Amino acid sequence: MLLSVRNLHVKYGNIEALHGISFDIDEGEIVTLIGANGAGKSTTLHTITRLPPPEAPRVTEGDIIYQGKSILKMPPHKVVSELHITLAPEGRHIFGNLTVQENLKLATYARQDTDNIARDMERIYDLFPRLAERRKQRSESLSGGEQQMLAVGRALMSGGRLLLLDEPSMGLAPVIMYEKFRALKRLNEEDGITILLVEQNARIALQFAHRGYVLNTGEIVAQGPSEQLACDPDVKAAYLGG
Ligand SMILES: Nc1ncnc2c1ncn2[C@@H]1O[C@H](COP(=O)(O)OP(=O)(O)O)[C@@H](O)[C@H]1O
Ligand SMILES: [Mg+2]
Repeated sequence: MLLSVRNLHVKYGNIEALHGISFDIDEGEIVTLIGANGAGKSTTLHTITRLPPPEAPRVTEGDIIYQGKSILKMPPHKVVSELHITLAPEGRHIFGNLTVQENLKLATYARQDTDNIARDMERIYDLFPRLAERRKQRSESLSGGEQQMLAVGRALMSGGRLLLLDEPSMGLAPVIMYEKFRALKRLNEEDGITILLVEQNARIALQFAHRGYVLNTGEIVAQGPSEQLACDPDVKAAYLGG
């Protein structure tokens, strides 16, 4: 098991947002966590990366095990630089006044393996030709979909081997969305990147992931291979429009 989340309870102030969730991911898998708005998807990702939001989620019980060791005490920057876990956050989180190329470069600052940076940059451009065409363009002039691709590119340039994606389909027109998901599939199949995908869009998530978990207000209520979840009557009724 690459990552194992065990009985995780998380609070904001006195309010518990995750009520003891457990799930795991094997190396090379694409696993999805689907759930409605407010279910606790972003909280789960932020607890793994401990990317400090204004009010950081606090773990009150349970553990997060990565490659056999608890990572709960690890400082956030080491989660990226030593564990190679990176988050492509919801929204964009890119530097609008910098070019595409500068944004990608900036993401590599903490990397030790500087020899591979140029190669990885070319790989991003190969996967996302839209970014290659716009490499000298200021990032704020990109479309929303292109900015989201850049956010994925940044997560990879920072050396990510386990990529956490927060609602990558959000706000995208279908053509761009499928283009992006195809690139993510190639990253998984050709580069061996492991992916944890959280999505409100259960339809695309279950098409794309190998396995899934359903998160409902801080609890996992169903799990299984994607094809099985997609046929589950309760999942269909609640998340796939019947
Ligand atoms: N910074 C925060 N402070 C307090 N409560 C929060 C914070 N972020 C999220 N929450 C609450 O935690 C719950 C889960 O939110 P979130 O993880 O953002 O859900 P999702 O990403 O599935 O939409 C919600 O009830 C939300 O209001
Ligand atoms: Mg969210």
